Amino acid sequence: MKNLIQVAIDSPAAAGAGTQAKLISKHYKLFYLDTGKIYRFIAKLKIKNKKKFNYLLVKKEIKKLKISNLNDKSLISNKIAIEASIVAKDPKIRKIVNNFQIKCAYHPPKKFNGSVLDGRDITSVIMKDAMFKFFITATVKTRALRRFKELRSYNRKISYNDVLKSIKKRDKNDYNRKYSPLKKTRDSILINTTNLTKRSCFLKIKNIMDKKIKI
Ligand code: C5P
Repeated sequence: MKNLIQVAIDSPAAAGAGTQAKLISKHYKLFYLDTGKIYRFIAKLKIKNKKKFNYLLVKKEIKKLKISNLNDKSLISNKIAIEASIVAKDPKIRKIVNNFQIKCAYHPPKKFNGSVLDGRDITSVIMKDAMFKFFITATVKTRALRRFKELRSYNRKISYNDVLKSIKKRDKNDYNRKYSPLKKTRDSILINTTNLTKRSCFLKIKNIMDKKIKI
């Protein structure tokens, strides 16, 4: 059996982790899971079902969840992002989601050389023993500006200040929650993307990874 390459990434909102995870997955042929999309999927379920939303419904929906369901464009909205950071505080919801993530991390489809997951508790909970652990960050203003530009292409009405406020609110929720708070583990490598282009950031990561692996 070949040794799987496992990459765990944590980051606050809009720091560029998703972009880097995609580049890593493409370069090393790894299965990619954007774990935030699962919390966003549950947030949408909550908004849609209102009073009928409960743990049983979440369990049922996660059981039949396919990666393609996570490509739903509506999951990108600001409203869903904030709701996601609220449902993500609930330990019972996190437990339901964890099994799905662990399966993706440790049993990716055979055609891949391993997996890369990004989120908030990947280095600290989901893939504690990953071969590579990164904590990707950037200043809050840089993150807000990047997310504003991305959201602006879907929603013309959104303002930079709305996005900045929402990112600060999510940071507060994610760093301070009781269960699985966002934190940089001691064994994670810090990558600050504030003054880096996507390419230079990827090269920095690739440089670190290539020292340990040969494909
Ligand atoms: O990464 P993204 O911004 O899509 O994540 C949405 C929300 O989902 C985050 O603000 C966070 O509250 C939650 N999340 C989490 N644990 C993860 C991934 C995301 O709590 N592993």
